[in-house]
Amino acid sequence: MDSIVVTGGAELSGQIPIAGAKNACLTLMPATLLSEEPLTLTNAPRLSDIATMTTLLRSLGAEVTTMQEGRVLAMSSHRIDTHVAEYDIVRKMRASILVLGPLLARDGHAVVSLPGGCAIGARPVDLHLTALEAMGAELDLRDGYVHARAPGGLRGGRVTFPKVSVGATENVLMAATLARGATVIENAAREPEIVDLADCLRRMGAEIEGDGTDTIEVQGVARLSGATHAVVADRIELGTYMLAPAVTGGSVECLGGRIDLIEAFCERLDAAGVSVEETERGLRVSRRNGRVAGVDVTTAPFPGFPTDLQAQMMALLCTAEGTSTLHETIFENRFMHAPELIRMGARIEVSGGTARVHGVERLKGAPVMATDLRASVSLILAGLAAEGETVVNRVYHLDRGYEQVEQKLGAVGAKVERVRET
Ligand code: UD1
Repeated sequence: MDSIVVTGGAELSGQIPIAGAKNACLTLMPATLLSEEPLTLTNAPRLSDIATMTTLLRSLGAEVTTMQEGRVLAMSSHRIDTHVAEYDIVRKMRASILVLGPLLARDGHAVVSLPGGCAIGARPVDLHLTALEAMGAELDLRDGYVHARAPGGLRGGRVTFPKVSVGATENVLMAATLARGATVIENAAREPEIVDLADCLRRMGAEIEGDGTDTIEVQGVARLSGATHAVVADRIELGTYMLAPAVTGGSVECLGGRIDLIEAFCERLDAAGVSVEETERGLRVSRRNGRVAGVDVTTAPFPGFPTDLQAQMMALLCTAEGTSTLHETIFENRFMHAPELIRMGARIEVSGGTARVHGVERLKGAPVMATDLRASVSLILAGLAAEGETVVNRVYHLDRGYEQVEQKLGAVGAKVERVRET
């Protein structure tokens, strides 16, 4: 398995281009299953999760052509060969469950393996299933698969989520576009990726209102057409690279960055003493004074502080002045980066969903292990601030969600190298 070697100490300066959002692309791709006409996505990120979704869609019979070195995905589902999403593909990525709503809505049946993904808690799919049942689906869980049928087609209705779920909102939103009648989704997720999906579905002819709020209304239509859609910028990649100059000093402009995608995060950076300035091309980030100040962070669904930036924020706070508290409210097992940061000299106490970080002046390089996608990149950020060399092992998680980390950080002066396993 590849590892990443980070040599700390360099101040960063320059520009980092932000790619299209992985999490938006992973829900936009299955939207192709809703129409017999082509759907083309531009500004797609080049990531192994996107390759996994490509494999899954192709296994169902969709055509997926990758152009411009992966930046453009031309998809067509004029024919669906099978409605079975196999375990061998689905286990690699939890977002695979997003083919369930579209397949059911289009043809009234689907068999989808229960998903795997990052080991950050139990991560069930009950909310997806209960919501589709409310729309008339009959579900049966057998041999690790969801067997779903809607013999007369899905029908609209009221779906009230007991808990905010990004994926379940996406699945229901896609399914509702082709359901009979109107669907009202209450306690819907409000993430920018949901708005991006709704924008794309509207281009395909769907009738949707209220996306970006907690109540989304969808009027079902008989068919959807093709479309071309540009994937929204990746707010998690953006936040990650905004933290790089906050950790090291210097100044970095994140090209394509937008404050509205990441306001709660910017507010916490500001409180820590990190300045974020809007430029013509994106966001410029630098530390206001020498050392950042400790802050408290609580993760929450959008527009709150994203759980997907909690690990990276912890890396920054390890060397902040004073004590910081991080409350993780979305996933129950999302502090696996803490023991690795402790190996680098950080002082962190974890108790349940709360981590207290007592800032130290310096971290020291060490061999560490990447446990999940966001944890991997938090260890790279910590390595940028540390004295000496940090070797991040098991980086395959990283390639699921960050394209060309070494090149992007290298271009602003960081010493980050990939050591390929031969
Ligand atoms: C998406 C993101 C992921 C992010 C997460 C929360 C994608 C591909 N992934 O994941 O990066 O960390 O949102 O912002 O977009 N839950 C249930 N039952 C369900 C579904 C979810 O109990 O059926 C729980 C989860 O365990 C979790 C919470 O609801 O505690 C939120 O999860 P959800 O928003 O569904 O996350 P994902 O869509 O899987």
